[in-house]
Amino acid sequence: MGNVAAIVLAAGKGTRMKSDLVKVMHLLGERPMITWPVGVARAVGASRIALVVGHQGEKVREYFAGDAGILFAEQSEQLGTGHAVACARGALEGFSGTVLILCGDVPLIREETLAAMLASHGARGATVSVLTTHLENPYGYGRVVKREGGRLVRIVEEKDATDDERSITEINSGIYCVEADFLFRAVGELKNDNAQGEYYLTDIIARAAEESLLCLAHPCGDASEVMGVNDRVQLAMAGGELRRRINSGLMLSGVTMIDPDATYVEAGVTIGRDTVLYPNVHLSGATTIGSGCLLEPGVIVRDCRIGNGVTIKAGSVLAESSVGDEAAIGPMAHLRPGSSLGAHVKIGNFVETKKIVMGDGSKASHLTYLGDAEIGSEVNIGCGTITCNYDGVRKHRTVIGDNVFVGSDVQFVAPVVVGSGSLIAAGTTVTRDVPPDSLAIARTPQVNKDGWVKKQREK
Ligand code: UD1
Ligand code: CA
Repeated sequence: MGNVAAIVLAAGKGTRMKSDLVKVMHLLGERPMITWPVGVARAVGASRIALVVGHQGEKVREYFAGDAGILFAEQSEQLGTGHAVACARGALEGFSGTVLILCGDVPLIREETLAAMLASHGARGATVSVLTTHLENPYGYGRVVKREGGRLVRIVEEKDATDDERSITEINSGIYCVEADFLFRAVGELKNDNAQGEYYLTDIIARAAEESLLCLAHPCGDASEVMGVNDRVQLAMAGGELRRRINSGLMLSGVTMIDPDATYVEAGVTIGRDTVLYPNVHLSGATTIGSGCLLEPGVIVRDCRIGNGVTIKAGSVLAESSVGDEAAIGPMAHLRPGSSLGAHVKIGNFVETKKIVMGDGSKASHLTYLGDAEIGSEVNIGCGTITCNYDGVRKHRTVIGDNVFVGSDVQFVAPVVVGSGSLIAAGTTVTRDVPPDSLAIARTPQVNKDGWVKKQREK
């Protein structure tokens, strides 16, 4: 394939979104909508990608700041798609080759489809290729007008079309491949003498046809790929389509989903085979899940590495953490950033962890807070244990050796170090280091007052 650059049109406001946020920054599959066409342009090898921005252009610029290969073109007044492309001329200065034109609000286009269009465009020596599709109800779209013999001659907008032209069901997706030298010459000469008073990009096709340059309609069989997002109903539909694609891919690779319509996995998350996902599981970011895991309903995992054979029970929330093989988490556990748990670890209900390392086989089964701690292997943390890591000014660490048994309702007032093999008696507030293989106990002695309650009652 030759030299490819891309232009993504994204200057429009998106009035029908009824939003304070510009349309292309609305989230689709957890990322701004515009990142999808940008990603596909990159995947098919676009060396430079020019984003035409206008409404809230600063938000788009900010999002892509520092991203090499992304250039910006300002279109301060939206005078039409042809004018928008003309605005990108400076950003692609000096480029010669094929320009891929995409829309920021047509996010579901697939890499394979664009690669095939680029390949046939190149192989047949076309000047313009238009991605088209057939719609039962083509209302609102530009119609693809062909001469007898099937040669593409022009595209006519709904508002400018004759009744005959309106009956055409092949529509313009708004996605094109155009040779750069022709493109920038043609958009520079557009007129706006049409029903909407706009500079139509689509008019470059009639222009190329007049000059006897080859124009191709490249049909796309899957209409969902060229679906535009104009309002929030379509945004939700696009989200559903994206989910179906991601989930089908995962299921075909060996992941079981009880209800794929209610399973939310961000693109890029990897999951091993024979892992089972129950409804309302949300997996996002740089997350990898091993094989043979079970994730119960309502589990939320972001930026985590989960080993093999791990069970995560209902309602647990995990972020920026790692979990070893065969561990069991939850129900209702909260692993906050920086939790690194070994193999066969058990974290039970209402346990919260943050910035901890926990060795293999250790357990904290109930109602516990472990923060800024280093816990060895085969440690038992009793119910109600708390690491008091914060003195109001600074955070301090708790270090617990291997094979320590911590009874229920223990507080570790950090900084404190507990040697391996020790026993901390229930109810103890640990304020000093504990040597290895020792018992630490700190309780006020119990007093029993015989018959005291009875006497009170009889008063
Ligand atoms: C356009 C096509 C139509 C096609 C349809 C597919 C033209 C004249 N018509 O129509 O044939 O069927 O897309 O969805 O091109 N934009 C700018 N600046 C502008 C105008 C638009 O950046 O001045 C951007 C919009 O933000 C949007 C895209 O270009 O991302 C398409 O613009 P829109 O106004 O939606 O075009 P349509 O009228 O739908
Ligand atoms: Ca549109």
